Amino acid sequence: MIRPLSLFIFNLNKQNVKTQVKFASTVLPQFSSEKYGVKRKSFGVLQPRDIDYFKSILGEDRVVTDESDVLPFNIDWIKNCRGQSKVVLKPKTTEEVSKILSYCNGKRLAVCPQGGNTGLVGGSVPVFDEIVLNFNLMNKIISLDEISGALVCESGCVLENLDDYVRERNLIMPLDLGAKGSCHIGGNVSTNAGGLRLLRYGNLHGSVLGLEAVKADGTVLDCLRTLKKDNTGYHLKHLFIGSEGTLGVVTKVAIHCPALPKAVSLGFFGVENFENILNLYKRAKTSLGEILSAFEMADNGSVSSTVKNLKLSNPISDYPFYVLVETHGSDETHDSEKLSRFLSEGMESGVIVDGTVTSEPAKMKTIWNIRESIAGAGLVEGYSFKYDVSIPLRNYYDLVELLRDRLKDHQAKVYGYGHVGDGNIHINVIVPEYTKNMYSMLEPYIFEEVAKLKGSISAEHGVGFRKPQFIHYSKDESALQLMKDLKKSMDPNGILNPYKVLPD
Ligand code: FAD
Ligand code: MLT
Ligand code: ZN
Repeated sequence: MIRPLSLFIFNLNKQNVKTQVKFASTVLPQFSSEKYGVKRKSFGVLQPRDIDYFKSILGEDRVVTDESDVLPFNIDWIKNCRGQSKVVLKPKTTEEVSKILSYCNGKRLAVCPQGGNTGLVGGSVPVFDEIVLNFNLMNKIISLDEISGALVCESGCVLENLDDYVRERNLIMPLDLGAKGSCHIGGNVSTNAGGLRLLRYGNLHGSVLGLEAVKADGTVLDCLRTLKKDNTGYHLKHLFIGSEGTLGVVTKVAIHCPALPKAVSLGFFGVENFENILNLYKRAKTSLGEILSAFEMADNGSVSSTVKNLKLSNPISDYPFYVLVETHGSDETHDSEKLSRFLSEGMESGVIVDGTVTSEPAKMKTIWNIRESIAGAGLVEGYSFKYDVSIPLRNYYDLVELLRDRLKDHQAKVYGYGHVGDGNIHINVIVPEYTKNMYSMLEPYIFEEVAKLKGSISAEHGVGFRKPQFIHYSKDESALQLMKDLKKSMDPNGILNPYKVLPD
């Protein structure tokens, strides 16, 4: 018997903001298969003897079958998708993963790899009865070379734990995102997560030095090198970066950690219109140059609803747009002076209306917390349709305005925010509840508009379950065919994360 989701809302007051948001919605989402009309493919059906086999490898405790214990692994972070898995497996070693996959492949049992389950496109939860392969217990740090910055760890390490570990050794993780307290490095690699400082430290295709992965048939692929340069043939690691668990399962990661910046400063500015954000970005690149580490924007609705819904406080007044500019450098006085000068010049020219600059860790955390909490703040109000697109900077905000106009007669709020430095905007459409009518007002309309601008329909969150049918808006037929050929060659029975990434 399933306990209602409301039972998970144990004492909200004791939870942190992200957990509050996570459990804010008490409504159990509809099954993804019904909501989106998907037919189950002809995979094997889990039998009691399969459970016995998994228990023989993992022991009783690491084979979860109780319906209410399995429930959270079936539901995604934004309560959009819900699968019907009957079992969650929690391996501790690559060898166990290999045995599980080899067995599942033989029996044609479908598998859904799952990290921290913070994915935003429904890729991390099953659609039907796929077996959930969860990496929570593969969380060991294997080595850290403090000279080169090469960190080697298991895929289930939580990003924030890794960052804490390397910071004590004067290094940082090359990526940072609002979900850092829950997401796994294996999930980050599998989604090619971008995050808040991609502008400075680049994406994971550059930072990941090597990895170990297990193919669908259980073969362990050892590409776990820590070299910066290695041109010996095909760069196989890239097949697993961003392939969302459809080509193999990532079990270990080697990643380059940059030096811990000696000086960090943060500016939070109020801006009158979007044109001025672009103006400011151009100025930031020239005046802050090599110390610029993040350039983020959020519109008034994003910030004011987050502040209101999560009871946070905004350090500056109400403005149409907000910009967050961060520097990572080596000289605190010099860097914060540079950022303060950037603020005063911006104010003198009228590009910035108001703002604050700080190097105090607690104040910086408060500001970052507002930006990082936008993702889930809308869940407090209802249902969130989330879009994550990249488009040319001059058109960056157009889609938000187009949508507001399109939805003006509906009860919908449209918020725009994102990583200006990467040309990546997130658009949240918040409605009281999911309706098919609203869904058809939004999709494929948004993707058609993105395609007109030659943009990407998924800039950083991936394709997952929610977007395979729209992938053609950003990938041409020949590229899609090669993706299908690769899938066929690496996972001939299609057991790895079916219904995800590739369209039928
Ligand atoms: P999951 O959600 O568990 O899985 C994501 C996908 O990867 C699934 O397809 C899953 O099957 C696959 N997968 C997971 N682990 C493995 C593995 N070991 N091997 C093979 N496949 C695997 N994303 C960004 O890019 N930038 C952001 O700034 C950002 N901010 C976020 C902020 C919040 C508050 C939230 C909730 C999400 C945010 N995300 C962001 C999205 C999400 O956090 C990232 O996609 C993250 O990388 C997912 O990691 P995870 O461990 O939670 O993976
Ligand atoms: C972010 O930049 O905050 C994340 O990608 C999550 C989101 O889209 O809200
Ligand atoms: Zn983002």
